[in-house]
Amino acid sequence: MTTYLVTGGCGFIGSNFILRLLREHRDARVINLDKLTYAGNPDNLREVEQDEGYRFVEGDACDPTLVGELVQQADVIAHFAAESHVDRSLMESGAFITTEVLGTYTLLEAARHNPKLKRFLHVSTDEVYGDVAEGQFSVETDPLRPRSPYAASKAGAEMQVIAYVETYGLPVVVARPGNNVGPRQHLEKFVPLCTTNAMDDRPLPLYGDGRQQRDWLFVEDNIEALDILLHEGEPGEVYNVGAKNHRYNIDVAEAILDLLGKPKSLIRFVEDRAGHDRRYGVDYGKISKLGWSPSHDFEAAIEKTVRWYEENRWWWEAVREGEFKEYYEKQYGQRLADARPYTSGGS
Ligand code: NAD
Ligand code: DAU
Repeated sequence: MTTYLVTGGCGFIGSNFILRLLREHRDARVINLDKLTYAGNPDNLREVEQDEGYRFVEGDACDPTLVGELVQQADVIAHFAAESHVDRSLMESGAFITTEVLGTYTLLEAARHNPKLKRFLHVSTDEVYGDVAEGQFSVETDPLRPRSPYAASKAGAEMQVIAYVETYGLPVVVARPGNNVGPRQHLEKFVPLCTTNAMDDRPLPLYGDGRQQRDWLFVEDNIEALDILLHEGEPGEVYNVGAKNHRYNIDVAEAILDLLGKPKSLIRFVEDRAGHDRRYGVDYGKISKLGWSPSHDFEAAIEKTVRWYEENRWWWEAVREGEFKEYYEKQYGQRLADARPYTSGGS
C-alpha cells in the first residue's frame, strides 16, 4: 500500500493525475488536499468520490498544522496546488506568492520531518525559463528568467525546493511541463475559453497579433510523465516535459472553429497581455531517457479536448455561472468592446 498526498487535486492536472493513480496503481491510497479556490472543482473527481482508496481534505497548503498531519501519513507527495492563471497574476499577485512560495515551503518543511517519505514531486512549469526564441529549446540547466508574477512565484517555489534538496537531502523531483490541454481545464484558459465561446457563437479573444506560440501537451501525456517522474525520477533532478506541438494562438483558435464547424469571423483581436511571452519551448531529452514520450500530436490533442467539452456541457456551464462571470467581464468587457475583427491571414 502506498499513500500519495496530492495537493491541488481538484484542479485540472491534479484531478487527471488522481484519476490515473487510482486507475493504474492498485495499491494506491490517495489523500487530496485542496483549498477549493475558484479553480478547485469537486466535479472533477465525482467518479472516485466514494472509492475506498480516495480521501478528500479541504484545506490550505499554507496551513502548517494540517499539512504536518497529512505529510506524516504519506509515502509520497505530488504537489500541484498553485494559483495557475497568468492573467489573474497580472490583476493581483498576492495569492500567487502566498500559495506558490509559502505553500511549497510549508510542504517541504513538513516533508523533512517524515523519515519514511520516498519521493516528493514538485510540479513547476516551463514558464520559469521566460520567453524562448523561435528554434530554441530550453534545457534543464538553463538560467531561470521568469517574466510574469505567476512565473516568478513558480520560480520562487523551485528555489525553495532546491534549497531543501541541498540542505536536507530531501528526495524531491521537479517537473517543468508545457501548456497542458485536455478535459477538466478551467474556462479561463485559452483552449477551453475558445472552445466554449465558439460552441455558443460568442467571440474568441486573441491577445495582440495572435502570433504567440505555445507547446500544446495533452494532459494524459503529461500525467503519464509525472507518474514516471514520481516513481523513477532521480531525486534532486529537474525534468522538462514537452511535446514539440508548437502552434500560433491564431492557428489554435482556427483549429477549434474548424472542429466545431463555426466561422472564423468569431475571432477578435484584443488588447495584448502585459509582458506577454511570445514563445516557450523545452527540450525533453532528459525525461525521454526514462522511456517517456508524448503520444498525442497537436491535432489529436485538440480534437480530444474539443470533443470532451462538447460532451460535457454540464461541467462547464456550472463553471461559467459562478465567479467566472465577474472575472470575464473584468478581463474581456472593455477589450472586446475595443476589439479588431478577424481578417483572413491574421491581424
Ligand atoms: P488549476 O488552477 O486548475 O488547479 C489548482 C488547484 O490548486 C485548484 O484545485 C485549487 O483549489 C488548488 N489550490 C490553490 N491554492 C491552494 C492552496 N493554497 N492550498 C491547497 N490547494 C490550493 O491548476 P492546473 O492547471 O491544474 O495546474 C496544476 C499545477 O501544474 C500548478 O502547479 C501549475 O503551476 C502547474 N502547471 C500547469 C500547466 C497548465 O498548462 N495548466 C502547465 C505547467 C505547469
Ligand atoms: O506553459 C505552461 C503554462 O501554461 C502553465 O504554467 C500555466 O499554469 C498555464 O495557465 C499556461 O499558461 P499560458 O499563459 O500559456 O496559458 P493561457 O491558456 O492563459 O494562454 C495561452 C496563450 O493564449 C497565451 O499566449 C495567451 C493567449 N490567450 C489567452 C487567453 C486566456 C489569448 O490570446 N486570449 C485569451 O483570452
